[in-house]
Amino acid sequence: MTDIILCGCCGHMGSTISELCENDSSVNIVAGVDAYDSGKTAYPVFKSFENLDRKADVIIDFSNPSVLDSMLSYAQNTHTPVVIATTGYDEEQLATIKAAAEKVAIFFTFNMSLGINLMCSLARTATKVLGESFDIEIIEKHHNQKIDAPSGTAIMLANAISEELEQKPLFEYDRHSKRAKRPKNEIGIHSVRGGTIVGEHEIIFAGTDEVVSIKHQAMSKKVFAAGAVNAAKFLKGKQNGMYSMEDIIQ
Ligand SMILES: NC(=O)c1ccc[n+]([C@@H]2O[C@H](COP(=O)([O-])OP(=O)(O)OC[C@H]3O[C@@H](n4cnc5c(N)ncnc54)[C@H](O)[C@@H]3O)[C@@H](O)[C@H]2O)c1
Repeated sequence: MTDIILCGCCGHMGSTISELCENDSSVNIVAGVDAYDSGKTAYPVFKSFENLDRKADVIIDFSNPSVLDSMLSYAQNTHTPVVIATTGYDEEQLATIKAAAEKVAIFFTFNMSLGINLMCSLARTATKVLGESFDIEIIEKHHNQKIDAPSGTAIMLANAISEELEQKPLFEYDRHSKRAKRPKNEIGIHSVRGGTIVGEHEIIFAGTDEVVSIKHQAMSKKVFAAGAVNAAKFLKGKQNGMYSMEDIIQ
C-alpha cells in the first residue's frame, strides 16, 4: 500500500487522481492540500503544507508553482518523496527543485503520459537524421483554462531536440513581433488555446518537398493521473535524487 498526500486535490487533475485511487486498492490518499476545499473528498483537506499534520509515503503535486517552497520544506523535513507534475516554473524554481533532490527523492516530468515520453525519444531519433537540414516547429494545443504558455511539454520536447543538434537553436515564441525570414537555427513553438482540448503536441520536420510530423493527442486527463500514481508507487522508499519517466520505462 502506498499512502499519498495529494496537493491540488480539489482541482481537475486532483479530482481525476482521487477517482483513480478509489478504484486502486494498492494506493490510499491520506490527506489533500488545496487552498480551495470542494467538500467532496473522502479525506481531509488542508489549506497549506504549514497546516498539514499527516504523513504519507509520497506527495503527488498537481497544483500551482506558488506552492513549491512550502511543499519542498515539508518534503525535506519529513523525508517524503514528491512527484511534481505542476508546470509553469521559472528558471529559479527549477533550480530549487534540483537542489531539493539532493535531500529528498523527486520525480519530475513536464508530462506524465507514457505516449509523450515515447514521442520525446522519437523526436530525438528524427532530429539525429533530419535536424541539420529540416526546419523544426512545435505546435501545442490546450483547453482555454490553461494558465501557462507554451506548455511544459512543448519546452521538454524542444529541449530534447536541442540536445541532439550540434548548433544550439533559439526558441522562437513570437514570430508576430518580427518581419524577417525564418533563420535555420531556430525552433518555432506555437500555443493554441481553446475549448476543452486535453493536450495535443505536434513536431513538424519540414524539408524540401517533404514534411515529417510526430503527433500525440491526450484524449482524457486519466493518462496523466495514471502516470502520476504509477510514479508515486515507483518513488516510495527511494533515496534522494531526481527521477523521471525514463527511470520507470527502463
Ligand atoms: N505533468 C503533467 O503531465 C500534467 C498534466 C496535467 C496538468 N499538469 C499541470 O498540473 C497543474 C494543475 O492542473 P489542473 O488542470 O488540475 O489545474 P486546476 O486549476 O484545476 O487545479 C489546481 C488546484 O491547485 C490549487 N491551488 C492553486 N494554488 C494553490 C496554493 N497556493 N495553495 C494550495 N492550493 C493551490 C487550486 O485551488 C486548484 O484546486 C497545472 O500546472 C497543469 O499544467 C501537468
